Amino acid sequence: MKIMSGNSNLPLARAIAGYLELPLTDASVRRFADEEIFVEIHENVRGEDVFVVQPTSFPANDNLMELLIGIDALRRASAKRITAVVPYFGYARQDRKPGPRTPISAKLVANLITEAGADRVLSVDLHAGQIQGFFDIPTDNLFAAPVMAADIQARYGDQSLMVVSPDVGGVVRARALAKRLDNAPLAIVDKRRDRPGQSEVMNIIGDVKGRACILIDDIIDSGGTLCNAAQALMDEGAVSVTAYITHGVLSGAAVSRVNNSALKELVITDSIQATDAARESDRIRILTIAPLIGEAIRRIADESSVSSLFD
Ligand code: R5P
Repeated sequence: MKIMSGNSNLPLARAIAGYLELPLTDASVRRFADEEIFVEIHENVRGEDVFVVQPTSFPANDNLMELLIGIDALRRASAKRITAVVPYFGYARQDRKPGPRTPISAKLVANLITEAGADRVLSVDLHAGQIQGFFDIPTDNLFAAPVMAADIQARYGDQSLMVVSPDVGGVVRARALAKRLDNAPLAIVDKRRDRPGQSEVMNIIGDVKGRACILIDDIIDSGGTLCNAAQALMDEGAVSVTAYITHGVLSGAAVSRVNNSALKELVITDSIQATDAARESDRIRILTIAPLIGEAIRRIADESSVSSLFD
């Protein structure tokens, strides 16, 4: 088995390789003067089971292209099986047509990864489970929930918890986390805009008064969804609001929005390499999912059960 990494999240790839007690495959990714990407593998991979670690986070297009070209290089070097390990699958939010004459970019990206030569895909908390079906190759979708639940139990286990979904679309994810937290009660933030042009009203479904709220979501991008939800929960009498989010996209002014929000703490994973601003924020904490991904890789290589990781 070999672990190869692109440039998107080298610390995560090193940690995964460390968990598996393997060195990273000797490969380099260079750029020509016009920014074209060139991948070169400096060791033999013929007949190997190779896992390429490359989340397609910002800059999404460059990181995606690096992944595709890396897979192509491996295929042409006769690797036996290539698994695209994409802890954060970019373009996932474009998973359906929101209107006429719009693309389904998540499907296009799935086609590109398959066409480049990947035999399998391994991802974490895909924005929608159905994205697995965009691939016609085996796709494992890992959940960060067990890592989050262990942290929540250790830090907030003695408090009166309430798991909160920041929108109606996240209820299934929130319910799964609540189940892991001894069936903690569930609340939902329901955003409504009754008429176009009217400002959005946040209705909280569930009584959060006196509760330590745990907001759960797959992505924090601008931070708007989360920070508004945190404020609405505090206004309804929550004692604190902590957010657990798998993918810290944190674009633009998101970190400063979090720093100035009602959130007690934002906990993200290392599926995306954190920016300096995120690392330096005393409101943001990062949990590693390297052992989770490393163990899934070990099981895929051994052809043993991956789903039992979540029993
Ligand atoms: C939406 O469906 C996602 O689950 C997130 O809630 C969303 O992407 C967060 O975006 P932002 O941080 O920009 O509000």
